[in-house]
This record gives sequence, C-alpha cells and structure tokens, in this order.
Amino acid sequence: MQSTTTLSSKSQAYIDLEDQHGAHNYHPLPVVLEKGEGVYVWDVDGKRYFDFLSAYSAVNQGHAHPKITQALIDQAQTLALTSRAFYNNCLGDYEKYVTSYFGFDKVLPMNTGAEAVETAIKLCRKWAYEKKGIAENQAQIVVCEGNFHGRTTTIVSFSSDPDSNKNFGPYPAGFISIPYDDIAALEQAMAQPNVAGFLVEPIQGEAGVYTPNDDYMRQARALCTANNALFIADEVQTGIARTGSLLAVCGNCIWLRQYSFRTQLKGYQ
Ligand SMILES: Cc1ncc(COP(=O)(O)O)c(C=O)c1O
Repeated sequence: MQSTTTLSSKSQAYIDLEDQHGAHNYHPLPVVLEKGEGVYVWDVDGKRYFDFLSAYSAVNQGHAHPKITQALIDQAQTLALTSRAFYNNCLGDYEKYVTSYFGFDKVLPMNTGAEAVETAIKLCRKWAYEKKGIAENQAQIVVCEGNFHGRTTTIVSFSSDPDSNKNFGPYPAGFISIPYDDIAALEQAMAQPNVAGFLVEPIQGEAGVYTPNDDYMRQARALCTANNALFIADEVQTGIARTGSLLAVCGNCIWLRQYSFRTQLKGYQ
C-alpha cells in the first residue's frame, strides 16, 4: 500500500533494517510502532493511532492491560512452560473456564489461527473415517472462494488468491470450492459423495470484509446437519466479541449449545 505521508528518518531506518535482514514474506504498512496502551498505539515519532486492526484480532483485549501484564509476569516467574508430557495446575482451569463461558464441550488451544484450521481439518477427516464411515482418504471438505484460513501448504492449496498459493504446489486434494454466501451452491456441493464438512468464515476478512446474508450461517449449519457433515466456523477474525457478539456464528452462543460439534477457537484469545 502506498503512503502519501513522508516517513521520518527514524521510521525509515527501522524499515530499512527489516528490509535488509528479514525475509520479504510480508508487506507491512509504512508505520513503525513502539508502544501500545488500551485502544491506542504510538509510532517511533510519538504519533498516536487508534488500533482498529488489533493484530487481526489477536489483541482484542487491547494493549498492555495492567492485570493481563501482571498475570504474564507472575506466571513467567513461577513456571513459564511445561510440555504436554505433564499435567500442570493451570490448563484445566483455563479449559473449564473457556468451555463453560462459550457452552462448548471441549477446547483444544492452539498458537495460531492456521494451526486451529489445520486441526479442524484433521478432526473433520478423522470423524469422517471413524464415525461417518467414509472410505479412507476419500473425505471432501467444502470451502469458499475468497477464503483466508492461514498460510500452511494445505490451507493455501484451497485458497483462490494467487498471492497465497502461487508457486507453493503441488496441492493436497480433498477440498471442494464454492462461491461464498451461496446456499444453492452449498446444497449442490453437499450432494456430492464423501462430504465430511463445511469450513467457512462467518464474515470473510482478508477477502475485503465481506458480510454474508443474515441467514447464511444458520442455513449452512442446517444443511450440514441434514447431510451429516461437520460445520466448521473459522472465527479467527470475527471472534471474540469483534462483531458485537461473543462469536459471529452464534451471538451469545446459546443456540449452538444444542449441537454436538463446536467451532474451533483460536487458542490464545
Ligand atoms: C479467518 C482467518 N483464519 C485464519 C487465519 C490465520 O491466522 P494466523 O495468522 O494466526 O495463523 C487468519 C489470519 O488473518 C484469518 O483471518
């Protein structure tokens, strides 16, 4: 993106440093941030901004909340990391809190959105083979054109954006791509053999903040139920409370509690 503002020499120096020593895998806006507090961030020249982007939802809670910062410090000084080879005295409390807060059966925390989506794909395929009775390696997952679910090789394989997948093939099989916000297309896809699930963003983020018809999510969920397929909502950009409700698919999530399969959550939110 082009900026019309002239960059200070300080900002330019930091940009040049990254340019020289970092991999050119991303093209940031020409703003060099150094401080955050609540809804604000400041650049290296002391200019203050509203942080409407909130790291694509990873800092929905705002910057440097004293309670959160103190909890991080306290825990780091007590025990910073345990492997999953052991139990610890925090994970269960967190799992109980987050599942009862949202009304879900289970949670599996992940470090990134892409890992959450990869895990949802694995879970969906395993369920298809072990529960639905689809023959091994035949499961299909329906996805939407214009999607953005992350940057792993499997995920970019079903992206329709050449910026995401060009030159990263060969691509894994097992995905059917349909237009977003098109219930008739979903109905047709569901009628194909071996459909295990439907992976969808409640509002497409990277596609340009594309909000579907009011009833799209409910109808999509109902079609999944009718076809014994899993409904997988990627709320990496829309959760938690970013659209005015806890999750975009279910508002305060009471209706979702009636169903047995739940959405994947980005673990660190
Ligand atoms: C809808 C959606 N899913 C998944 C991801 C990937 O998340 P991460 O960058 O944490 O892997 C993103 C990232 O912007 C996203 O917008």
